This record gives sequence, C-alpha cells and structure tokens, in this order.
Amino acid sequence: NAMLSWQRTSFHFQPQMNWMNDPNGPLLHMGWYHIFYQYNPDIAVWGWGNLTWGHAVSKDLINWFHLPIALFPDQWYDVGGVWSGSATTLPNGEIIMLYTSRLLNLTQLQSVAYPANISDPLLLDWVKYSGNPVMFTPKDIGHEDFRDPSTAWLGQDGKWRIAVGSMVNNTGLSFVYKTSDFNNFELLDGLLHEVQGTGIWECIDFYPVSLTTNDGLDTSANGVGVKHLIKVSLQKTMKDYYAIGTYDPIKDKWTPDDPKEDLGNGLLIDSGKYYASKTFYDQSKKRRILWGWVGESDSQSTDLLKGWASLQGIPRTVVFDKKTGTSIIQWPVEEVESLRSESYDFDKLKLEQGSVLPLNIGSASQLDIVATFDVDEEALLSMEEAEGDYNCTSGGGAVSRGVLGPFGFLVLADESLTELTAVYFYIGKGIDGRAKTHFCADQSRSSSASDIEKLIYGSDVPVLHGEKLSMRLLVDHSIVESFVQGGRRVITSRVYPTKAINGAAKVYVFNNATGTSVTASVKVWQMNSANFKAYPLTGDQL
Ligand code: FRU
Repeated sequence: NAMLSWQRTSFHFQPQMNWMNDPNGPLLHMGWYHIFYQYNPDIAVWGWGNLTWGHAVSKDLINWFHLPIALFPDQWYDVGGVWSGSATTLPNGEIIMLYTSRLLNLTQLQSVAYPANISDPLLLDWVKYSGNPVMFTPKDIGHEDFRDPSTAWLGQDGKWRIAVGSMVNNTGLSFVYKTSDFNNFELLDGLLHEVQGTGIWECIDFYPVSLTTNDGLDTSANGVGVKHLIKVSLQKTMKDYYAIGTYDPIKDKWTPDDPKEDLGNGLLIDSGKYYASKTFYDQSKKRRILWGWVGESDSQSTDLLKGWASLQGIPRTVVFDKKTGTSIIQWPVEEVESLRSESYDFDKLKLEQGSVLPLNIGSASQLDIVATFDVDEEALLSMEEAEGDYNCTSGGGAVSRGVLGPFGFLVLADESLTELTAVYFYIGKGIDGRAKTHFCADQSRSSSASDIEKLIYGSDVPVLHGEKLSMRLLVDHSIVESFVQGGRRVITSRVYPTKAINGAAKVYVFNNATGTSVTASVKVWQMNSANFKAYPLTGDQL
C-alpha cells in the first residue's frame, strides 16, 4: 500500500515484505555478517505452522543482501514451525545451528542444522541432522514450554553446554544440556537458574562480560575479571530482562550479584518496544553485538494493509558498565556512522522555562542526534521543590510540568506540533532527598491515527558525579531508538505520524520545567539510506 510506504525504514533491517519476529543465529563467517530471523513468508502476521528462518548477509551490519529462506518447516519434527535458535561456531570453524522444532501437535523439541558447504561465504544451503530431534520434553514439563536453545559454551571438561528456556507452574527456568558432538545431548540435573512468577523464559541469552576491558568475550570465556549475564524474554510484559552475576562452571549454576535485582525485577535491555534479543561474538572486531526484534505498535489490520510487519533494532555493541558496576552499556555499532551526511551544530542553546525551539535542519525523518543538557546549578542544588517518586510511565508524559523536567527533544513532529514524539529527562527527588534522573519517551501524541498503542516508556538512569546529561537518538521514519548516558539505558519507540512524514518531519528541543532553564548542545546528522538488495548477488558484490 503506497499510502503507508513511508513507514518503511531507511537504515533498519527489515524483510522486503510479510512478517518477521525474533533474530536467530547471528554470526560472522568469512567476512560476512549473517542474520536469520523468524519469518512468515506468506502474510504480515505471525503464523501458526508456517514460520521459517529468513536470511540476510552484510559486510558491515548496515547494508544488506536478502538471501533465500534458510530453513523451512519440511520435516515431521518441524512441520509445526521452525522456531527460534542460536548459532555456535566451533574452534575448527564448523557452524552448528540449534533451533526449536515444533510438531504438528505443537510439541516443542530442539533440533540441529548445519551449513551444507562451510566454504560458501553466504551459507546458502542448510542440512538438518538426520538424528533430529535431539532434545525432548523433560519430565514434568508442558509440551509447549520448552524452547529457544542458546549459543553453546565450552566447559572445563571439554564438553559444550546449551541453555534452553522453560517453566514449571509459573516459575521461569533454564535447563542446561551437555554435549560433545552436537548429536547426543544430556540434560543436567541442576538448573542454570530459576525465578518464581516470571513465566516461561523465552530466548535465553547467556554470555560473559569483561570487568576490565571494553572488548567483547567469546561465549566460552570465563575466569578472573569475568562476570556472566543472563537475558530472558518474558511474555507477561513482552520485555527483555537481564541480570549480571557469577557462573559456576562446575555446578553449571548462575547466581545474581544482587538477588533483589534478579531477572524480571531488575534491569531491562530496553524499556520500549524490544523483544527476543540475542547477542553474538564478533571475532573480527572483538566485540559482542546485540540484535533485537522491534515489533509494530499499530493494528494487525494496518500491518496487513502495509504488507509487512517488524524491524530489527540497529545492532548494538554490549559492554559491562564499569562505572556503575551494575549494568551494561549498549551503543549502536560504529558502522552506522558511515551513513552520516550533512551535520548541524547547535552550541549552548538556552531553553527558558516552557520553551520549544525548532532546529532548522531540513527534513527530519532520518537522523542521528547527539546532545548534552545542563540545568541551572542552583536549581539542582536546592532540590526542595523537586518532586519525589516520579515515574515515566505514570508521570503524565511530556506535558506534565515539574520543577526540573521534562526537557529534551520532540522528534517526528509536524509544524503545528499536533504530532510529536517526546524523548526527555525528568529530574525528581529520590527517597534519600537527592536528585534522581529519569529518561522517558512519550508516544501519546505521536500520531493522529487511532489504531495505535501510544504508551509512555522509560526508567530512572544513574547519573554519576561529574557526568553531563547526554542522549543519542536514531530517528528513522517510524522508529526512534534513544540511548541515554552513553547507553546505560535504552528506549525504542515505534511511531506512526500521519503529517510528520518524510520532508514534513521536524525536530525541536524543549524545556517544560518550571524551576530551571536548560542549556542544550546538539549535533544532528542527516542519515543516508542503507542499501538493501535482493538475491542473487552479482560477482563484484561477492
Ligand atoms: C519469542 C518466540 C520464541 C519462539 C518464537 C516463535 O518471540 O515466542 O519463544 O521460538 O518467538 O516465533
């Protein structure tokens, strides 16, 4: 439908048409980054039975070639759908794909696939192991509660481990399987971890982070200076939760650093629209890269009209946040900066209480924005008037005025400001009487269309002594990805303006605080569109 074609993004990954959900089996092979994804090739809605693995490759994680579907539901054990899974690259270069295969009666089992020809850089053809399926529903587990095998990691005994998500009653948990050949798998007695009340753990991601360097680590790394992160996707909120802790490689058990901040109660990978995320280790640049499914916030009937649904977020590097010691830092991969074109600098813009200032940069539908914000020193020091207990989601959004907030950006806004997406700081007072900074994204006025979920997202964010308030926004037609304090917290928004589209989209800075002026320094880049090309590739593209 041409009317809605502007909602397609210009530098986010999406298939040419139809439905996509989870990223699957990301890897780097012979200089090509591969992404697979849950794909319904028939229609723009999630399918029962017909899910396949879509496939694309890129040299830089930004410009993509769409490839033929890699895995179809064509075996007795996966006719119910080829569901999510992960890649493991063995030390000898072999690649193993583990995925959830669904029977016609909806039972979930785990199966193995291999590239037919490991010397093909595009890994076009895949072979399913003749001994599939390789993991069966454990005792006392519901046949629909057993899915999404992780990337394997190597134990000290020379055997590989794989995490698989499940639940008992409403307790979410991770089984661990052991294998030496990826044909025979042994279920271990103990669990990697479990948390009451979290429901099934989808798409478990389990990996080491370095406490001392900014390098990513191979999934099998362990030892001194290493902690382990578990990420689970929880259906009850459709959000990705993580916690950092210690992995015991003998007992194959993980323990959170802070039991009060365990999975489901603690940190989110992204407090916006972001689910089923998965990392992989990029051995060429020694970094860990995160992919995540960004679904639609419009209605299914509109998706059918558009003929497509879902994006993947811009791939993000993940490192341990050495400054807080409690969270991770996510940042768009550096390759996205290759799309930056004209830039505009706005130095020390003074925003009085209640002001909205346009940034005259031309069309504002494809942007990379970095900015810092200063509030009045005295206002911050005399916190008496600042409100306590602020919360982004219940705080009334960008229109509700407090002493020290909200202030930030209005993006994908039209000239009359009837449509806008607000991304902002709000400084409140913590229970200890000290400043507590919140970072929010308010979708409530993002579109005049009515079939849209228009939520307010956000959370508090640690701002350490001497740090300036800072944010980075990637704006791409119908998505805004917002990174705060260098990536300590992230919010992804899907928005569907009807007026603020293409050349009519504008960007503003605003300060709705009543008790402080704000000084903003902003740099905006126009972003070029990435290349998305259809298969087959020509000789020089290879
Ligand atoms: C997560 C998920 C996975 C499953 C896949 C099916 O979004 O539900 O648990 O494998 O999607 O498409």
